Amino acid sequence: MFKAAIMGFGTVGSGVYEVLERNAEVVAKNARDAIEVKYILDLRDFPEAPYQEKFVKDFSVIENDPEISLVAETMGGKGAAYEFTKRCLLAGKHVVTSNKELVACHGAELLEIAKAHNVNYLFEASVGGGIPIIRPMLQCLTANHMTQIAGILNGTTNYILTRMINAGLTFDAALKEAQEKGYAEANPSADVDGVDACRKICILSDIAYGDHVYPEKVETEGISKITLQDVSYAAQADCVVKLLGRAVLQEDDTFYAFVAPHFVPKSSPLACVDGVFNAIMVTGDMLGDSMFYGQGAGKLATASAVVADMIDCARHHERRRNIGWGDGSKNLLRPLDDFASRWYVRLSGADAQARLTETFAGCTLLQAAAANEAACITGELTTAQMKQTAATLGAVTGCMRLL
Ligand code: HSE
Repeated sequence: MFKAAIMGFGTVGSGVYEVLERNAEVVAKNARDAIEVKYILDLRDFPEAPYQEKFVKDFSVIENDPEISLVAETMGGKGAAYEFTKRCLLAGKHVVTSNKELVACHGAELLEIAKAHNVNYLFEASVGGGIPIIRPMLQCLTANHMTQIAGILNGTTNYILTRMINAGLTFDAALKEAQEKGYAEANPSADVDGVDACRKICILSDIAYGDHVYPEKVETEGISKITLQDVSYAAQADCVVKLLGRAVLQEDDTFYAFVAPHFVPKSSPLACVDGVFNAIMVTGDMLGDSMFYGQGAGKLATASAVVADMIDCARHHERRRNIGWGDGSKNLLRPLDDFASRWYVRLSGADAQARLTETFAGCTLLQAAAANEAACITGELTTAQMKQTAATLGAVTGCMRLL
């Protein structure tokens, strides 16, 4: 029997308890022994829960109990979660987590501590919720150079964009609907500003390229400026607007990583990923494209990935998985200024069409959605060139890369 603790009894933590209870038989079969939750750490009271004896408010109870070999950290954030995770690893306990912020900010360090204490720190649920992506990248794709990762990594923003595209809702109306359905938080900034997707592309880049990518170094743009006009210009270009986290490998093993809304051609499988679903397209130099698709959030979907990591720890109790990456000092992340793409550009002004065709020689004009504006698809330009050109043009009301 493995004795476990859950730290944080919010949506994911309570889901972990539910999966362990409801699927106890299959969990025990796959873990080759039962996993029993001995403690649940949370500062709040849960008077409705029938297992009151399991709740503790003092972390040291878990830390000092030698019977606890497995801990699920579902607290979120990088305050107490960081301290408690470190202390659990130092105490020789395996830790599994759904906490993308903590892995994105401190993953390299926590994996080093885990290694030094011969325990696992596993985080399958930190990217794509219940979608298998971390383990495939760590195991199944390792004979490839991962030349590109392009992911719809945030369900809330994908829901909002889908409703804008399919139902003609404005950004504000779609956000309100997402909040009413419980997808978006009252303060939706981490989702709509791309912060959550940024943490996730950092983790995927860490794994793919072997050096820690700190979120503050990754250029990140959200979706709050996207309008229905942008959506309609995308349709004209046979594209849909999607928020993508991307990492792109270069010949010299450096790479770009960034988050931004894109025009995604309808021929790409990513264009069909609608609603709260997530998908991650990984391109390997041997494999070609493969796409991982499913529920990127949600209580039981995410909890199932956390519990799978607990099972993995239980099965490999005496060994640890050899996961780790550099601390970021290899400086493999390139400045995005050099990254070249084709672009959608929308410009306002009476002479907008003439100015676009003068500025972007050979561009493809889109049919203007309103008087006194024009839009086009450009040829390849670097980010620096586009930033400079947009500043010179002024009055640019929409600007996105094409995938
Ligand atoms: N808020 C996230 C999303 C889920 O909407 O995808 C957790 O990362």
